[in-house]
Amino acid sequence: MSENKPLHFETLQVHGGYHVDHTGSRGVAIYPTAAYHFKTCEYAANLFELSEPGNIYTRLHNPTTAAYEERVAALYGGVGALALSSGMAAILIAVTSLASAGQNIVASPYLYGGTFNQFTISLRNLGIECRMAGSDRAEDLEKLIDSNTRALFVESMSNPGCSVSDLEALAAVAHSHGIPFVVDNTFGACGYLCNPFRWGADIVVDSATKWTNGHGTAMGGIIVDGGTFDWGNGKYPAIDGPSEGYHGLNLHKTFGRSAFIVKCRVDGLRDFGCCPSPFDSYLMMLGLETLSLRVRQETESTRRLAEFFRSHPKVKHVSYVGFEDDPSYANAQKYFRFGAGGVVSIELEGTLESTVRFVEALHLVAHMTMIGDSISVVTHPASTTHKQLSEADQRAVGITPTLLRVSAGLECVDDIIDDFEQAFAHI
Ligand SMILES: Cc1ncc(COP(=O)(O)O)c(C=O)c1O
Repeated sequence: MSENKPLHFETLQVHGGYHVDHTGSRGVAIYPTAAYHFKTCEYAANLFELSEPGNIYTRLHNPTTAAYEERVAALYGGVGALALSSGMAAILIAVTSLASAGQNIVASPYLYGGTFNQFTISLRNLGIECRMAGSDRAEDLEKLIDSNTRALFVESMSNPGCSVSDLEALAAVAHSHGIPFVVDNTFGACGYLCNPFRWGADIVVDSATKWTNGHGTAMGGIIVDGGTFDWGNGKYPAIDGPSEGYHGLNLHKTFGRSAFIVKCRVDGLRDFGCCPSPFDSYLMMLGLETLSLRVRQETESTRRLAEFFRSHPKVKHVSYVGFEDDPSYANAQKYFRFGAGGVVSIELEGTLESTVRFVEALHLVAHMTMIGDSISVVTHPASTTHKQLSEADQRAVGITPTLLRVSAGLECVDDIIDDFEQAFAHI
């Protein structure tokens, strides 16, 4: 094996982050510990002032979690990653590490409902304004940027509408204003379907609960730092300036290209405390080992389901980026492997009541708020993931009472089609 030849995704998903330890164990060990023995007081003091690397306390570091973080960073080609207890925690820590009270972020309107609420309510209550654009087009987001903007935020493929943003154009806009481009790449399946760093993103957040874990067995989120952004442009004194939490230490000068991910850990994770459990980090690593195999099959099954729905008389509209007439087709072809993802949205003929009957008639397809699971899932966004939005806000982002989001699992897709077919009889 050549030392210089980069390894493929499929190889990194099983080898990344693994180092033979003193036991020779080939599986990554789970370290269920809250704290670590300090060999001397001087060593402990060095750890606390960040002058020496090492484990302090599992809220900040854990060897199992570190292996998982290293694997994800390798898959994305980033300089470092930080694992958190959920995707929402990853977004919160990433955004609050960039913007403070009195500043703003600019975002696409096509966002997961939880992110929409975090941005428009919780961040607002912390004094950070989220300016939501009228669409995800670069020119619409650019109009909202001013001297107080500290990040541009989009989802690579939006939840639930599956719209694919023009990542390259958005990165160019962000950089022309001296701010980082942050992409929620949950639908990009941990970099396998889409790697936003290839297209100019500086920071990626990902709900690992979904395709990374892949089996619906743990919650998790991850922030990955591409190491590309210039923090020394004067807008980020908490990264390139004296750190209040570390006696004036300058994170940018001390940690160079890794300054942002270090900031997320040593300030964000330290202070907000949303760390994953070592066992969940282990489950994430295990999930990653089969990521490409699962995602390939799920993407293929999604295509079959989309074709089935399109030919069905009880389906009014199918949103599937793999169809040539879909508004996101060109962007999906450019930014997503296979030109598609693992989710299809459908709008049924009929009413809210008949949609409910349809959902409740499904036997195999699980009615849950989940995507990227090994079982196929149907979600009714208007009554679940996007319920907190007003009806007007729901309609503005394309959520109607008869809209359903379908995430294909690993079953034989013929059985899933049969299940949908019998449920249609109930409408
Ligand atoms: C695109 C996207 N981002 C973030 C999240 C939040 O992730 P979590 O549920 O792990 O907190 C979700 C959840 O569905 C999501 O779909």
